[in-house]
Amino acid sequence: MIATMLQNPRISDYLLSFEPNLSDEMEAFRKDAEEREVPIIRREAQAPLRFLAVLRQPKEILEVGTAVGFSACFLSDLLPEANITTIEKVPARIAEAKKNFSRLGKEQIQLLEGDAADVLRLLFEEKKRYDFIFLDAAKAQYGVYLPYLFSMLSKGGLLVTDNVFQESSLADSKFTVTRRNRTIHMRMREYVESLFAWDGLTTVLLPIGDGMAVSVKQTEHTHTQE
Ligand SMILES: C[S@@+](CC[C@H](N)C(=O)[O-])C[C@H]1O[C@@H](n2cnc3c(N)ncnc32)[C@H](O)[C@@H]1O
Repeated sequence: MIATMLQNPRISDYLLSFEPNLSDEMEAFRKDAEEREVPIIRREAQAPLRFLAVLRQPKEILEVGTAVGFSACFLSDLLPEANITTIEKVPARIAEAKKNFSRLGKEQIQLLEGDAADVLRLLFEEKKRYDFIFLDAAKAQYGVYLPYLFSMLSKGGLLVTDNVFQESSLADSKFTVTRRNRTIHMRMREYVESLFAWDGLTTVLLPIGDGMAVSVKQTEHTHTQE
C-alpha cells in the first residue's frame, strides 16, 4: 500500500499541487541548491514539516544537518519567533549557510559547527531543551544521536526524521540491497525500530517524499537508554 502510493507519480503530483509557493527568495534558494545538487529537503517534505511546525508552535528548534540552510530558513519563515539551532560539519556548507542566514536576515538561527555527535553531547551537557528536532544528517549515525535527542526533547516535543525509507529500500531484504548500502540500510532499520521501541516516544512513519518518521515524547524523562 505504502509502496504503491510512493511509486504513484500521479499521487505525488496531486499532493504537490497543494504545495503553496514559497517566497521568491526561498524559491530561488531551492532552485539554486537543486541546480548545484546541494542536498536539501524534498519539496514533498515541506508540507509535513510545515504542518508539524504550525501544529506544535515550537519556541526552540534543533536541526541536525544544515547543508546551506534551506530547511532552517523554511522553518524560520513559518515561525519567526522561534530560536533555531542547526548543526553542520562541512566547512564549505557552513560558510554558505552563514551567508544565507545573513542575507535573509535570520538572526534567530544559530549555526553550530562540528560533528553532530560532538555538538549534541555538548548541548546535552549544557542541559539544552528543544520542543522540535529535525534530524536530517548522516543517516548511519542516527542511532548514536537518539539518546541525546530524546533527552533534550521536552514533553510533547516532536522529533522529525527525514528520508527514513532510504530511497524506498527500507522495506527490502538486506540481501537485495547492494553491499555498499548494506550498513546504512541495517542502521536505518535499527534506528526506526528503536524509535518504535523507545520508552516515552510514540512514532508514526509518513509515506511522503522518501519517508518521514514523526515521534512525540510523552514523558518528562531525560535519561538516555544507553
Ligand atoms: C540532507 S543535508 C541537510 C539538508 C538541510 N536540512 C536542508 O534541507 O536544507 C545533510 C547535511 O548533514 C551534514 N552532515 C552529515 N553528517 C554530519 C555530521 N556527522 N555532523 C554534522 N553535519 C553532518 C552534511 O554535510 C549535509 O550538509
